[in-house]
Amino acid sequence: MPKEKILVVDDDAAVRYTLAEALRGWGYEPIEAATVTGALEAFDAEQPYAVLQDIHLPDGSGLDALLEYKKRQPQAIVIMITGSIQLDDTIAALRGGAHDFISKPIRLSELHVTIRNGIETGRLRREVGQLRRQQEQRFGFDQIIGQSPAMTEMTSLARKVAASEASSVLLQGESGTGKDVVAKAIHYGSARADHPFIAINCAAIPGTLIESELFGHEKGAFTDARARKEGLLEQAQGGTLFLDEIGELELGLQAKLLRVLEEGMFRRVGGLKDLPLHVRVIAASNRNLRIESEADRFRLDLYYRLSVIQIDLPPLRERGDDVLLLAGFYIKRFNEQLRKRIRGLSPAVEDIFRQYHWPGNVRELRNVIERVMILEDSNLVTTAWLPRDLMKREQAVFAPPVVQASSPAENASPLFRLPDAGADLEQVELSLVRQAMERSSGNQTRAAELLGISRDQLRYRLKKLEEFQSEQ
Ligand SMILES: Nc1ncnc2c1ncn2[C@@H]1O[C@H](COP(=O)(O)OP(=O)(O)OP(=O)(O)O)[C@@H](O)[C@H]1O
Ligand SMILES: [Mg+2]
Repeated sequence: MPKEKILVVDDDAAVRYTLAEALRGWGYEPIEAATVTGALEAFDAEQPYAVLQDIHLPDGSGLDALLEYKKRQPQAIVIMITGSIQLDDTIAALRGGAHDFISKPIRLSELHVTIRNGIETGRLRREVGQLRRQQEQRFGFDQIIGQSPAMTEMTSLARKVAASEASSVLLQGESGTGKDVVAKAIHYGSARADHPFIAINCAAIPGTLIESELFGHEKGAFTDARARKEGLLEQAQGGTLFLDEIGELELGLQAKLLRVLEEGMFRRVGGLKDLPLHVRVIAASNRNLRIESEADRFRLDLYYRLSVIQIDLPPLRERGDDVLLLAGFYIKRFNEQLRKRIRGLSPAVEDIFRQYHWPGNVRELRNVIERVMILEDSNLVTTAWLPRDLMKREQAVFAPPVVQASSPAENASPLFRLPDAGADLEQVELSLVRQAMERSSGNQTRAAELLGISRDQLRYRLKKLEEFQSEQ
């Protein structure tokens, strides 16, 4: 293994000699410089692991050299050698990002420890930097596939939000539209990327546990609280907390969360002190929280707070040819995983993919491609192995209903045309209810009008719709 290089900068040849000898003895490779200019040249040429930097040099100050090293290499480990204890210099060096100080006369054993620490710190910093770059590559905005107008609009908003100071964000979209993906991209594409990204699924944890999971608790706060515990909010300090399926959070906890977001403070369960919160909260829901709050299942005030910055993820069926881009991406991925050589989709499959309503969105598409690629023997994705759902030609349920002019004279031609393959009446009804709610932006009175039914009748159907969705 090559030896770790350490740059020694001092105008006193005797000091340089002593330090260089000691460094060699400890297994490092010393490089010497007597001036600021010489030091910077050596720094660029040799890329040392650490620098031992004297402050007073003939052609300038070691503090300026420090700033130059940090400009070129923010991770650089610089240990300052100070003649006597000079507070001004020390403060300036700390501000400039010095790793540590050693005062003259130099005690070699102390120097040895300081250098070992410095090199270890440098190694960790490089590792963290590398991990962060890897995370960014894995989870960054570049991983989000889509060129349709709906998607470019969504990602440009999300990028703006990532770069902003926004302390809370709401992601809304049907299941499988990529809410997890976008939440991570916002985190890893922001200045918070060096801090934790912590995710909690509000639907997966019983309501009674969520409070202490989120806020932590003090020792003795309740029977089982034997020790103090940090909550997820605290663990995410500096970073991002992703509250998935926020619609499932109990109303009482919604009130607590609102208080935290409004005040920027939180309190552990059983605690007396308010602690400052430096976390961005990204909440996600696959339900329309506005509709939920009108039905008193979600707090309207929390909805208003969260929706200040709201990002709506378009369903796959509204992304045009993105479905083909995504299919290509997954074909490539599964070619590698399954050792297949599928070239692409047959024209018939392309048509079906463009027309299908994709209720499970990108996740469904991925699963379909995986299934077909496991079963397909030819080198194209053909209709042979497509799931039956995709092959139903008419999709009365989600496609806009075919409304025809109905004058008394045309009584023979129906208002809605029954697809050749037939349709599921209940689903048609639910689809119409859903469309009416969307068109009226969640206003129940208006939606009931659009459907020509009473508000009570609408409420009954909304309840059915909800049950239908929770079975999905
Ligand atoms: N635009 C996209 N580009 C690439 N992959 C995507 C995209 N959108 C979603 N995916 C992939 O689709 C799958 C589902 O996405 P994700 O889990 O983010 O959906 P979701 O909206 O969180 O769904 P749910 O509401 O069920 O939690 C994941 O495997 C994800 O990697
Ligand atoms: Mg999700």
